[in-house]
Amino acid sequence: MHEIVQDYYGRQLRSSSDLKTNACCDINQVPAWLKPLLARIDPEVLSRYYGCGLVCPTALEGCRVLDLGCGSGRDVYALAQLVGPSGEVVGVDMTDEQLAVAQKHHGHHVQAFGFDNVRFVHGYIERLDELALEFGSFDVIVSNCVVNLSPDKDAVLRGVQGLLKPGGEFYFSDVYADRRVPELVRNDPVLYGECLGGALYWNDFIRLAHRQGFADPRLVEDRPLAVTDPTLLDKLGNLRFFSATYRLFKLDALETACEDYGQAVVYRGDVSQQPHRFVLDKHHHIDTGRVFAVCGNTWRMLHDTRFAPHFDFIGDFERHYGLFEGCGSSMPFDAHAAVEGASAQGACC
Ligand SMILES: C[S@@+](CC[C@H](N)C(=O)[O-])C[C@H]1O[C@@H](n2cnc3c(N)ncnc32)[C@H](O)[C@@H]1O
Repeated sequence: MHEIVQDYYGRQLRSSSDLKTNACCDINQVPAWLKPLLARIDPEVLSRYYGCGLVCPTALEGCRVLDLGCGSGRDVYALAQLVGPSGEVVGVDMTDEQLAVAQKHHGHHVQAFGFDNVRFVHGYIERLDELALEFGSFDVIVSNCVVNLSPDKDAVLRGVQGLLKPGGEFYFSDVYADRRVPELVRNDPVLYGECLGGALYWNDFIRLAHRQGFADPRLVEDRPLAVTDPTLLDKLGNLRFFSATYRLFKLDALETACEDYGQAVVYRGDVSQQPHRFVLDKHHHIDTGRVFAVCGNTWRMLHDTRFAPHFDFIGDFERHYGLFEGCGSSMPFDAHAAVEGASAQGACC
C-alpha cells in the first residue's frame, strides 16, 4: 500500500483540485484567528494541501509538535506560527515529492515568520521509533488525513504513545466509515488513495485507541463526506464516510467511562484564540467564567495537561457518585424496579 500511496501523492496528484472526491479536502470554515496565519503560507504549499480537517488546536505556545504525514507542509507552517519561536514543529512524510515542496519554501517561511522552528523528516509513520525522535518529547502530535492510509494503524498509535509526553495529546483529522469497509473497496487503488478504502469503521477506531492506551477518545468535530463521482459511488454501495477530528490524551489515569466525582471547572478565558468559550470536544464547550460540572476524565484532560493554567478547579477524586450523566452511557440497572422489588420481598434474592 505504501507504494500506491506514494505514487498517488507523489506523481498523480498535482494539486487539491485533482482529487476525485471531497474526502481529502477541508471544506470546514477556517476560524478567523487562523486566516492571517494561512495567508503567510506560500501558495504552492497551500495548493498541495490534501487534509480533511483542521489540526490546529489552541494553547500551543512553546509546544513541541509533530505532524504525521505532513505532505507539503501547510499544517506544519500554520502550527509553526502558533508554537512561536520557543516551540518546534517536526513534519514526517514518506513521499519525496511532497517533502520537496515543503522544503523548497522553508526559507520563505523563516523570513515571513521571523524565526526558524520547523524541520522535515523523511520516514514512515508506522516506524516512528526509527526516526531519531526523542521518546516522550512531544506535547502535541497532529495528523491530517493520513492514518487511514496506513496499513498498520496499531503501529502508528503505538508510536504516538511513545513519542508523547505524559499529558500530551494526539489531535488528528481522518476519514471513518459507518461500517467495516469491504475488501473490494479496500483494494481499489483510487479509493485507497482518496482516503476511503483504508478508512476504519468508527467503532473499530475506538477499539484501536483503547488497545493502544488511549482510554477516552474525544470527538471534536465531524462532517459527512460527499462522494460525487458516479463510478466510485457505484463501488461504494451503502457505505457512508465521515471526516472527523479526535483528540486522544496520553493520561494513564483516564477511565474507560466518564465517572462522576462531583467536580467542576471554571475557564479563565485566557487562551488567546478562545476568549469567550473553551472547546475541548463536541460536547464540552465551556463558557468563560461559568462553573461547569465535569467527569473525572474531563477534569484530568484539563488539569493534567497544558490547559491547567487556564482553569480553576473545584473538587477532587475523594468521593464517587457513579456514572457521570450525559456522557453517552448510563447505568444498566433499572433503578425504579429495584426499589419496587425491595418493598415487596425484602432485600434478599
Ligand atoms: C492525504 S495526504 C495529507 C497530507 C497533509 N497532511 C495535508 O494535509 O496536506 C497524505 C500524506 O500522508 C503521507 N503518508 C501516507 N502514508 C504514510 C506513511 N505510512 N508514512 C508516512 N507518510 C505517509 C503521504 O505521503 C501524503 O503526503
